[in-house]
Amino acid sequence: MKQWDLLNLTMTEILDKYPFMEEFLRENHLIDRLQPAQSFTQMLTNVSEEEQEEWAIDPLRLETAFWEYFLTMSEFLGLQTKDEIRELTILPGFDKSGQAEGFSELTIKRGEIIAIVGPTGSGKSRLLADIEWIADQDTPTKRTILINSAPADKKWRLSTANKLVAQLSQNMNFVMDLTVREFIELHAASRMAENIEEITQKIFTQANHLAGEKFDMETPITSLSGGQSRALMIADTAILSESPIVLIDEIENAGIDRKKALELLVGQEKIVLMATHDPILALMADKRVIIANGGITKVMETAIAEKALLQKLQKLDQLIFSKREELRYGHQLQDFDI
Ligand SMILES: Nc1ncnc2c1ncn2[C@@H]1O[C@H](COP(=O)(O)OP(=O)(O)OP(=O)(O)O)[C@@H](O)[C@H]1O
Ligand SMILES: [Mg+2]
Repeated sequence: MKQWDLLNLTMTEILDKYPFMEEFLRENHLIDRLQPAQSFTQMLTNVSEEEQEEWAIDPLRLETAFWEYFLTMSEFLGLQTKDEIRELTILPGFDKSGQAEGFSELTIKRGEIIAIVGPTGSGKSRLLADIEWIADQDTPTKRTILINSAPADKKWRLSTANKLVAQLSQNMNFVMDLTVREFIELHAASRMAENIEEITQKIFTQANHLAGEKFDMETPITSLSGGQSRALMIADTAILSESPIVLIDEIENAGIDRKKALELLVGQEKIVLMATHDPILALMADKRVIIANGGITKVMETAIAEKALLQKLQKLDQLIFSKREELRYGHQLQDFDI
């Protein structure tokens, strides 16, 4: 966004998208002159010359101040830069033996899902950690992560309230003594969400949709099972997080509906990277990164023929799912066809 763009939006558009701008109007005696269909510049013409003098208002200076206020607040809230993130690039480093990685560079655009596959201990979580850290040759792999083809501002590493990256990690421990409701509300409030009640309900419903065993709003988060807390974090990330980059470390072992979880996460034009041992999740991605001995050895596109195989795998998966459910509910397993 440029200054000119902001000054050309109507006040309705501005306040809808950037509610914090209302404070600027209030501080500058302009709130009573608000005409929703007008731009900020047009609005300034509603102030007579006498009033301008009385309130020490200079329209030109006020336009600049309006823009500066917008920039400062957006940066503080982490809004603006995040809107502008179009792509992420991974530049190679070295594997565990110190050999250069076998790819030249990998650029991932918004709306793309990348799976990270490889044996246990091969470095999948390490790659996700490099991205979260926005590595700059300062991690064990010596990789570099670029945002929009340029080295990223290091401030992202420290900003916790408005992170560039939302991370769903392998080990999630809640240490806070909160109920599910309090946890979501707190999170929604810290994101400056307006309709907290509605959002809380939505996240809660989706989380229960993903979790095998249902839980309620008043459950303390410390007593959620591994799968339930994973489901809660996924719903929370999908619905509340404005982070353009989502990193997922193995959703498959959490006993949640992983296909639904992935659909929920990818519905929002984000850059998604997911480490997985699950062939179904791997094939749902647009591309997959193969990791061995700590290094990326290959980047492959998911072939169209593979997408067709996905359906077969899903059938098998359904079968295993139904057998698991039978066992879980104490049935004796009968013979079946495959
Ligand atoms: N290129 C590298 N150079 C040095 N150390 C590395 C490199 N890549 C990974 N490691 C280290 O190897 C260990 C195992 O890596 P990691 O935990 O990422 O494996 P993983 O693929 O996620 O395994 P799992 O499937 O069990 O989760 C970690 O301690 C990690 O920091
Ligand atoms: Mg791992």
